[in-house]
Amino acid sequence: MSAQDEHKKAVAEAALEYVEDDMVIGVGTGSTVNHFIDGLARMKTRIDGAVSSSEATSQRLEAAGIRVLDLNSAGPLPLYVDGADECDAHRRLIKGGGGALTREKIVAAASERFVCIVDEAKCVPVLGDFGVPVEVVPMARSLVGRALVGLGGMPEWREGVTTDNGGLIIDLRGLRITDPPALEREINQIAGVISCGLFAARPADVVLVAGPGGVRKLG
Ligand code: A5P
Repeated sequence: MSAQDEHKKAVAEAALEYVEDDMVIGVGTGSTVNHFIDGLARMKTRIDGAVSSSEATSQRLEAAGIRVLDLNSAGPLPLYVDGADECDAHRRLIKGGGGALTREKIVAAASERFVCIVDEAKCVPVLGDFGVPVEVVPMARSLVGRALVGLGGMPEWREGVTTDNGGLIIDLRGLRITDPPALEREINQIAGVISCGLFAARPADVVLVAGPGGVRKLG
């Protein structure tokens, strides 16, 4: 296992501390969260189930014997655990490297506490280098692309990718994001945008960061 993967595993194990008996837990998507699901599997008899943010996560939860619930029947969730692609000191995030940003944003919005789990490589002073994934309705791809150029960025279509919702992904590159909530609002207002991977209006409540010195907590 690489050092980065060791860190992903360590931070996922640390997030298990937030899991309480009888909870229905919101579960994100990605390689870090996969370690969290492995840990959750060990305590599956203590929890009521999970609400998933992607088809990939649902499959993994089900394979681990964890009941997957529909958000409409589960109602508000006490806890959401997910990874991120970038994180700043205010716990604002870029997510969607795996294309699951829309369902991740929905589950985050439905959760009282969002615990984000990252390795140190994801922590940045200013968000933007990763690019901002934007999910769009297919017929609006060019329209949204032009509007994103108008915001000063360079849109790049993630060709060949269709999301779980039937959307396309455009990665908005070349921006140094000094006001993440403002950019999130501006992108969300473009006709044809389903959602964007900036999590600034609703940042994480807690970020656990794993590095060579162990796991530290922001928030
Ligand atoms: C999925 O769409 C993303 O938001 C992931 O949460 C993010 O890409 C982190 O993934 P890793 O844990 O694999 O780095």
